[in-house]
Amino acid sequence: MTVIETLKLAAQYLEKHEIENARLNAELLLADILNCKRLELYTNFDKPLKEEELQKYREFLLRRAKGEPLQYITGKANFYGIEFLVTPDVLIPRPETELLVEEILKKYDKSSHLKILDVCSGSGNIGITLAIKFPNSKVLCVDVSEKAISIAIENATRLNVRNISFMQLDILKETIQEKNFDVIVSNPPYISVNKKETTQREVRLYEPQIALFVDDELKFYKRIIDLSDDLLKENGSLFFEIDHELAQPISTIMDSKNFKQIKIKKDYADLNRIISGVKTK
Ligand SMILES: C[S@@+](CC[C@H](N)C(=O)[O-])C[C@H]1O[C@@H](n2cnc3c(N)ncnc32)[C@H](O)[C@@H]1O
Repeated sequence: MTVIETLKLAAQYLEKHEIENARLNAELLLADILNCKRLELYTNFDKPLKEEELQKYREFLLRRAKGEPLQYITGKANFYGIEFLVTPDVLIPRPETELLVEEILKKYDKSSHLKILDVCSGSGNIGITLAIKFPNSKVLCVDVSEKAISIAIENATRLNVRNISFMQLDILKETIQEKNFDVIVSNPPYISVNKKETTQREVRLYEPQIALFVDDELKFYKRIIDLSDDLLKENGSLFFEIDHELAQPISTIMDSKNFKQIKIKKDYADLNRIISGVKTK
């Protein structure tokens, strides 16, 4: 079987199992097995596949047809043009979250010496990207999941990022000894458990529940805003990813806690997605 013949059958198989963008998925899975870029498949259409490659591809296709996210099958996800290792212990980084990084990049010069705190860091996608983009800055990533912290450390090591450290802690119960952060950034869990059944099946069944669902959607925001009192410098900035429905209540809480210059940024679907503010005292 050649690359082109295999791809055609694989795309038909995924389509039959109602996988969106079946052809793209088929190409990305095969490119991962052949250890090449997706577009390189096009210059190797007539290349015959080895039996072990086909065997692995069949396994990958079976998993994908059942609904397992592509990134958990390949073990990799792209965030801000950087490749991160991911396992089912961490949330798959989302394109909307790149806006959080973008907002911080817009506000500060790349040569700044910042102290940055990433709360609920998961795979380390936000913190590591910021550590790379602000090489003179220091980033601290915290997450309650030991396994997530291990993956984040592995990502930082693979990417040779040294201006970063990691700490496992429960932000709802504990605090951080270090103070005087210039920036606190967080994409915390924010989907109400009441919305679990209506959440996309792939997300609900495969991604870590602890990364997604909360009994009170505002819980993490309230806690991080309260902690900012102690952790954030005067004139330091807070950046959150939010559900679009939470923009108003979070803005009100930030305003009541002496945050000024509160800005809400929309995502690609024109929904409120990022909120930021500056601590005044
Ligand atoms: C929505 S995910 C965000 C992951 C990553 N920052 C991203 O943007 O893709 C939320 C993260 O919060 C972590 N988390 C959940 N409860 C926590 C808690 N009480 N304290 C600290 N981290 C927590 C989860 O382990 C998960 O990694």
